[in-house]
Amino acid sequence: MQVITVANEKGGVGKTTTTVSLASALGQTNRVLVIDLDSQAHATEWFGVPASRVPVERSSYAVLTGQTPLANTILRTEEPGVALCAAHAYLAKAAQELAAKVDGLFALRDAIESLSESGVEIDYVLIDCPPSKGAVVFNALIAADLVLAPVLAESLSMEGLGELAETVKRVRQRYSPELPPPRILVNNYEGRSAADRQIYDYLHTQFGHQVLQTEIGRDAPLRECFAARMSILRYRRGARSAGQFLALADEITESLNATEA
Ligand SMILES: Nc1ncnc2c1ncn2[C@@H]1O[C@H](COP(=O)(O)OP(=O)(O)OP(=O)(O)O)[C@@H](O)[C@H]1O
Ligand SMILES: [Mg+2]
Repeated sequence: MQVITVANEKGGVGKTTTTVSLASALGQTNRVLVIDLDSQAHATEWFGVPASRVPVERSSYAVLTGQTPLANTILRTEEPGVALCAAHAYLAKAAQELAAKVDGLFALRDAIESLSESGVEIDYVLIDCPPSKGAVVFNALIAADLVLAPVLAESLSMEGLGELAETVKRVRQRYSPELPPPRILVNNYEGRSAADRQIYDYLHTQFGHQVLQTEIGRDAPLRECFAARMSILRYRRGARSAGQFLALADEITESLNATEA
């Protein structure tokens, strides 16, 4: 089992879009569990689960606060191969509660490690983070085998990247010696505008091989499929972004296999 955490403190850069689309791409041939850690519950809603109907004791909040084993929260979704641990509005107060516990940073890692003891077989866990920092996101980073940081090509959304890289480095030093530096996913990339290319060049100079080869272009169907409560692969398999997320799944599984070997 491999844990992929999708994080960037900056809001609206495509974290949830990446989590849902990559989950469905990996779900074609793997068993995937998405854990929604954002109180906005966009990933939960995207999978067709109305967040207001998720009982708090069956949510990721209950897992983080140690009230419920992760295995007892798992919901099936319409996406082949993809299961969900849903978000709850209480997540908004989870960071404060976790900070008051001596082992509050390890709740998620422990919960994920206990999964196989419960007889639940999962190949990939994908974690959607809120646009913030603090104990909830730290839990997701400490649980991770790989951190994926989407950035928008057209804005200064890489402002928070240096800080994320620094946090991941400290997680590696203290808790997870195998955790590689965050991989950067260029989202909304057009490549036609000079500004896009300038940012792209900057990212490559600054972050080198950390930048993933696969880019996600700006794609209208990708925006629409949230309203349809479907992943892009179910909504429009022929869409450009659907192919890009399948390529991303290949690139990421190869990179994880290479670090494992
Ligand atoms: N490549 C893309 N093409 C078109 N629209 C996109 C693309 N990536 C993201 N979007 C749109 O941008 C908006 C923000 O994306 P998303 O919700 O995934 O970001 P986020 O980082 O999860 O936001 P938050 O920080 O609030 O959780 C959404 O409306 C989404 O549909
Ligand atoms: Mg989001």
